[in-house]
Amino acid sequence: MTQILANLAHKISSLEDYSIEGRVCGVKGLIIEVKGINAFISIGSLCTIEPRNGSVIKAEVVGIKEHKALLMPFEDVSGIGSDSKVSLINCAQVIYPSEAWRGRIINCFGEPIDGKGALPQGEIGYALKAAPPKASERTRVREKMDMGVRSIDVFTPCCRGQRLGIFAGSGVGKSVLLSMFAKFAAADVKVIGLIGERGREVNEFIEDYLGEEGLKDAVVVVATSDESALARRQAAYMTMAVSEYFRDQNKEVLTMMDSVTRFAMALREIGLAAGEPPTSKGYTPSVFAELPKLLERAGPGVQGAGDITGIFSTLVEGDDTNEPIADAVRSILDGHIVLSREIAARGRFPSVDVLQSISRMVPNCNSDRENLIANTARRILANYQEMVELIRIGAYKAGSDPELDLAISLYPQIEQFLSQSSNERDYINSSYDKLGQILEL
Ligand SMILES: Nc1ncnc2c1ncn2[C@@H]1O[C@H](COP(=O)(O)OP(=O)(O)O)[C@@H](O)[C@H]1O
Ligand SMILES: [Mg+2]
Repeated sequence: MTQILANLAHKISSLEDYSIEGRVCGVKGLIIEVKGINAFISIGSLCTIEPRNGSVIKAEVVGIKEHKALLMPFEDVSGIGSDSKVSLINCAQVIYPSEAWRGRIINCFGEPIDGKGALPQGEIGYALKAAPPKASERTRVREKMDMGVRSIDVFTPCCRGQRLGIFAGSGVGKSVLLSMFAKFAAADVKVIGLIGERGREVNEFIEDYLGEEGLKDAVVVVATSDESALARRQAAYMTMAVSEYFRDQNKEVLTMMDSVTRFAMALREIGLAAGEPPTSKGYTPSVFAELPKLLERAGPGVQGAGDITGIFSTLVEGDDTNEPIADAVRSILDGHIVLSREIAARGRFPSVDVLQSISRMVPNCNSDRENLIANTARRILANYQEMVELIRIGAYKAGSDPELDLAISLYPQIEQFLSQSSNERDYINSSYDKLGQILEL
């Protein structure tokens, strides 16, 4: 065996170096047309382009048209001109994560951007664009994960291997809620993809919300809104590939992506530039094909491996139920947490709209007592909401309906129960006990 390997190594070292090269023959917007490499490439192949200013730009094949390859750059295209040299560098993009990536912040290429020095590389390669495990080989979603946030643990409990969406407009509290999960949830490792956020939001998230405590057991992947569409898309793939590494190390992984909408927008930009037809809100068909491929990579692992529990944030502005991305994401995931602007406006955080949020694993993952407590509280909130207008205009007389009187008397305490400051940790059992006490159950 060793002899065969030695012979092979000798043969490889004696092979002549060769490279596949082409030339730029046109630039249209974000698309660079290249001739001379078509026989060797496929969609997703990685190339380098050498503009006249001496730099080297990474680019990816996003389309093929007649005798030309259509490339999109990861960086600024300035300096690229007719006849710039293009070299094919490899076909599959692979990273080598290791345990030492914990506590680090990386970009879409897996390079460290936290100024803490080089990133130690592991031994096993993980493809950025991997397929999810086969459904038949996956285990079932497992027991509940303690998320450390009362409103979630009681009303939208999250099981290991489950995938939940957070649906909200901007400024309603998505990032703060995600950072609470990063600090408090009972997972071994957290992998956080910040996709297409503004630079200011990224700094705020890492320094103010996450802090040292949240970063300790996390790997953060960042592609800000000013980076290219390819970089933003790749950061999402990177987030999943790093999660898959830890899953295969038998770890319980909590993967969070903020936001899937920005990932979809990056796909749209790439699709439109490559000439795909726009459909709903300009999103191209490939967006709707790619979304499930990304989200399915989270979920239960195969027997003997860990799981990837996924929390994916999605932007919904106003009451736009026709938002195609929110619709698509909702249909793929196993539940959704809805944050409400109205609740945030009255200062109750996390602004979870309990009545709009559901977890599809409930009621099976709950005990009878837990179901009783959650359902009773929901009923009280629903009654209160229905009556709120009447109460406000004084059209309801206390004492005329015991159910509603109960709702009116318990509502302030339930609201109190639902509010939780971002540095306060709670636990599933104590959350149920607290609510049980309020409801006298
Ligand atoms: N748990 C919380 N406690 C107190 N204030 C909060 C909480 N969550 C969010 N906020 C307030 O809401 C603002 C916006 O939250 P953020 O998570 O950045 O929104 P989004 O990510 O949805 O745009 C924060 O700056 C903060 O003032
Ligand atoms: Mg945010």
